[in-house]
Amino acid sequence: MQSLVNQTSIGNKTSPPNSRKYLRVEQVYMRLENKVAIVTGAARGIGRATAKRFSEEGAFVVIDDVDVENGIQLASEIIKTGGKSLFIAADVSRSCDTIQLVNQTLDHFGRIDILVNNALCSTENILENNWDPIVKVALRGTDNCTQAVIPAMCENGGGSIINIASVNALIGLQNIHAYSAVKGAVVAYTRSMAVSYGADDIRINCICPGTVETEVWLPMIEKNPNIFDDLLPFYPLGRIGQPIDIANAALFLASDESSFVTGSVLVIDGGLTAGLPQFPI
Ligand SMILES: NC(=O)c1ccc[n+]([C@@H]2O[C@H](COP(=O)([O-])OP(=O)(O)OC[C@H]3O[C@@H](n4cnc5c(N)ncnc54)[C@H](O)[C@@H]3O)[C@@H](O)[C@H]2O)c1
Repeated sequence: MQSLVNQTSIGNKTSPPNSRKYLRVEQVYMRLENKVAIVTGAARGIGRATAKRFSEEGAFVVIDDVDVENGIQLASEIIKTGGKSLFIAADVSRSCDTIQLVNQTLDHFGRIDILVNNALCSTENILENNWDPIVKVALRGTDNCTQAVIPAMCENGGGSIINIASVNALIGLQNIHAYSAVKGAVVAYTRSMAVSYGADDIRINCICPGTVETEVWLPMIEKNPNIFDDLLPFYPLGRIGQPIDIANAALFLASDESSFVTGSVLVIDGGLTAGLPQFPI
């Protein structure tokens, strides 16, 4: 399926004499046209931006979140702007919920092409190294959703699964070891699952974002209102990330443009993990 944008380009001075004026039709493809995507933790932050970006590119988007109010609000916003969307309040840490998430998506849209495992527990749990909620949502949640969608993707003849990990999987950051360990596990899980399901044409990749300005940072901002400015010296590009930066990377991994990409770890971090920008030599 494709959209056509007519663009007239009328013969000009360089046209051969008496040549017919011509009409050039430029084909603009929606990168996810008619694909069905589930985005977990999509009521706010990176998940929200990803759901909106996917919808702009023609996907039918299932918004999953435990935050019912903001999830419904986003689904309505997408529908009002002409997209197709559905909110489902599934807790990714409960496998029975994720089976329901998949069944309801299939009932509504008939297929599943894309899954973005993005949900995350509260910032407080991360800062306090509370292993159980971090593991349950970010790791078991990723596996619950993945296992639930795989049969549907196999039936479709393939799909794309995108796990949102973190730069914490790649470099040590002070005092947040449980979150870092879980995100490291998400990277290892991504590679293992990519190897397992390549033959089914299910591509499984992960994204490691650096600091992204979302509500997850609110408790840290309350303690230090200048936290984002204080982080800038660590970022060679001189800025921290915005949700759209990650959404665009997820769009690439979701689309057919990445059809030869699986098991990869896409680092979207403004150069944070590239080196030491303030190294004193
Ligand atoms: N923001 C950053 O700086 C940053 C950096 C690196 C990685 N990440 C990763 O990106 C992802 C999104 O981060 P964010 O900053 O947008 O987070 P966020 O806290 O703003 O959003 C997380 C969403 O997940 C939902 N959620 C919580 N528990 C859930 C559950 N059990 N089931 C379903 N939904 C649930 C929340 O309600 C919320 O809407 C996370 O996986 C996070 O680890 C974020």
